[in-house]
Formats: sequence, C-alpha cells, structure tokens
Amino acid sequence: MVLMKNYISSDDQASIVNICRDLGIGDGGFYQPGYDGGRKMNLQMMCLGKNWDPDTNMYTELRRSDNTKPPEIHPKFHDIVTKAIQDANDFIRVNGASSDEGRGLPSMSPDICIVNFYSEIGSLGLHQDKSESEESLKKGVPVVSFSIGDAADFSYGETRAVGKADKVILESGDVLIFGGESRLVYHAVTGIDPDTVPKSLREATGMRPGRLNLTFRKY
Ligand code: SIN
Ligand code: MN
Repeated sequence: MVLMKNYISSDDQASIVNICRDLGIGDGGFYQPGYDGGRKMNLQMMCLGKNWDPDTNMYTELRRSDNTKPPEIHPKFHDIVTKAIQDANDFIRVNGASSDEGRGLPSMSPDICIVNFYSEIGSLGLHQDKSESEESLKKGVPVVSFSIGDAADFSYGETRAVGKADKVILESGDVLIFGGESRLVYHAVTGIDPDTVPKSLREATGMRPGRLNLTFRKY
C-alpha cells in the first residue's frame, strides 16, 4: 500500500473537478445509490467505464436504475494513473524492505473508475474492493485512488474489526495505491473534515463543500 501525499498538481486537481462536474450532470452521472431494501449509501456516485451495482456487487454495462451507460474514463485520468503506479514502484524499489524485492505493483490500465462525492456528512462503511475479476484480484492488480477537496478520515486494516483499523487522513491531491498483498485491504471513510479544501482549488473551481474520490480499477 503506497500513499503519495499531495501528488496531483493543483491544475490537475482543478481539471479533475471540472471534468467530473461535466460528466456528473450528464447521462450516467452522479446519483445516490441505494439497495433494494430501500437503504441509501451516504454519498453520490458516478461510474466510468463499467457500472458497479451496490446491490449485486457486480459490474454491468448499463446502470440498472435508469439504463444509462457509464461515460468513458477521460484520457487525462489514464495518464495520471499510469504515472502514479510508476512512481510508486520507483519508491518501492528504492525504499522497500529487501523482502519487497521483485514485488513491485503490477501495471494497470483501468477499465473502471468509481467516482464518489461525499458531502460534509458523507461516509462509507468498512469493505473490501472485490467485485473485480478473479484474475485481477489474484494478481493483486492495484486500485488507484485520488482524493480531491475536503480531507477524509480513512481507516484501513487486515480484518473486518473496525476497532483494529489504522487511520490516516487523505487530503486533496493525495494518491493512495493498494495492490499486491494489500489488494484486499479493508477500508472505510469514517468522516469528512469540513472546510479543509485548499482555498486555491475552491476558488479555481467553485466546487461545493465536500470531497471527490476517484478509484481506478481493472476488471
Ligand atoms: C472506496 O472505497 O470506494 C472509496 C474510498 C475513498 O473515498 O477514499
Ligand atoms: Mn473501496
């Protein structure tokens, strides 16, 4: 698991906000996902590439609730993801333990991006990302996560025990990568830290209070 602090440039953060806003208001854009029982998730979601269905935990080509097709992953996002994995691998090579030798992250060309928007009261319960193909999970093909806007309290751990989870704050511009042996790490967003968005980003984009998170995956 590699966390790269303040990795995405201010200009790129602003572009990502603007791209997500444009896509978010169109077909397949932001919605509040719910479960068949009626319960709703505590965030807004938009899927790119393939649609993730929270009820079945499966990917589909169309969104079941309104039959919309998810927008494509923007080329700019692909470039940042590719570079982030390379930089994470360079870091592992130089700083990793000797037992890490030869165990860099597999490369990844994403065909899925889940974009979450958390308002100041948004959150996401502890879970694993395991709806991707058996092959992808087995190989430990990484998930790459961008954080933009207000900071989040992020918990992660090896087990479902919330009390045992470690905590880290994810701030605007941070990139978190979990692959290899960490691919199935349990993780949660326990809260959003209000009014922590960089002032320059708020001014450049006029983004509403809250946090944007993009997770890129390979099915
Ligand atoms: C997710 O687990 O899908 C999103 C995590 C985050 O918002 O940082
Ligand atoms: Mn997740």
